[in-house]
Amino acid sequence: MKDKRIQIFDTTLRDGEQVPGSKLNTSEKLTIASHLDGLGVDVIEAGFPVSSPGDFEAVYEISKIVKNATVCGLTRAVEKDIDIAADALKLSSRPRIHTGIGTSEYHINFKLNSTQDEVKERAFRAVKYAKRYVEDVEFYAEDAGRTENQYLAEVCELAIKAGATVLNIPDTTGYCLPQQYGEKIKYLMENVKGIEKAILSTHCHNDLGMATANSITGVMNGAQQIECTINGIGERAGNTSLEEVVMIMSQHKHLGLETGVVTNKLYKTSRLVSEFMHMPVQPNKAIVGSNAFAHSSGIHQDGMIKNRSTYEIIDPEDVGVDKSTIVLTARSGRAALKYRLNQLGFSLAKNEIDVAYHFFLKHADKKKTIDNNDLVKIMDECKEKAV
Ligand code: KIV
Ligand code: ZN
Repeated sequence: MKDKRIQIFDTTLRDGEQVPGSKLNTSEKLTIASHLDGLGVDVIEAGFPVSSPGDFEAVYEISKIVKNATVCGLTRAVEKDIDIAADALKLSSRPRIHTGIGTSEYHINFKLNSTQDEVKERAFRAVKYAKRYVEDVEFYAEDAGRTENQYLAEVCELAIKAGATVLNIPDTTGYCLPQQYGEKIKYLMENVKGIEKAILSTHCHNDLGMATANSITGVMNGAQQIECTINGIGERAGNTSLEEVVMIMSQHKHLGLETGVVTNKLYKTSRLVSEFMHMPVQPNKAIVGSNAFAHSSGIHQDGMIKNRSTYEIIDPEDVGVDKSTIVLTARSGRAALKYRLNQLGFSLAKNEIDVAYHFFLKHADKKKTIDNNDLVKIMDECKEKAV
């Protein structure tokens, strides 16, 4: 059976850019957008046009240069927002308006000071209004993660009646457990009348570290789009990390899910976003962290040298990383030392390795990692000892 194609909706430039202290200028946004287009994402959420002249300009300029992806602009369920988003998107060959409203009791009672019926009415009107401008309208039910399923289904049904092509089910506060979120998507797939006219989208935040797990459970239960950001950046603990969900689908072929992402461009895109946003990537970050393909303990290094598959499930080249690294530390063994010395052109017999290892440990106990210069020094010390 053919794999099901999951749409990748990148919101690095909108939800990702909401990260405190990491403002991008238009030229940086354009560079990132063109990389995202080359990466093969399906949708680029370029900004929230009504929020500032800078965001309007970014969405307008990005709409002109993006060749393949749909370009999307966010709005509230407010006519003025939708007018401005439509204007910012007018030069896009594939424009999408993303409009919506809070649906949880927290949002309805405390933020909107409204009622469930009024919210349903506003959702319907916003989608209908956006349809005047574009065919492709995505509706978001903000805080869907904490919205009771039956009411959420009623809102989704109305959004479809008004013409929504995509229904975004955000776990805005990152509250849901993977099973809960999966069940929510399943419930909507089974209970929303007209669901075949639209697709469901996941939009998970990482407050409890479950954004990736929730998104994957969402698509396993019928959602067809994942909203995510490069490096998982975003408000608070961030959004779902694009590189993680893409590689999970590519590693677990049995899920029968595929994306159009060119995975060997992931690392480069990650570094670009990190540099522009002045946000270093944590070393142990899955897929793109500097330690993701580095091996430092003796047991692991020995296995890696024998066969990469002993300790790596991904070929680093598949995500654009040159190669795995064997890092020499005081935890490394003779196999790793021999391997690294070989790479430097020293080929040693077993008794010579024993001597070199003795000097190596002396250095390694003082220094965190042993580099090539240290190895040359160690070889000099071995020679002196031999004289
Ligand atoms: O997290 C969220 O609910 C959002 C919506 C505005 C889509 O970012
Ligand atoms: Zn969000």
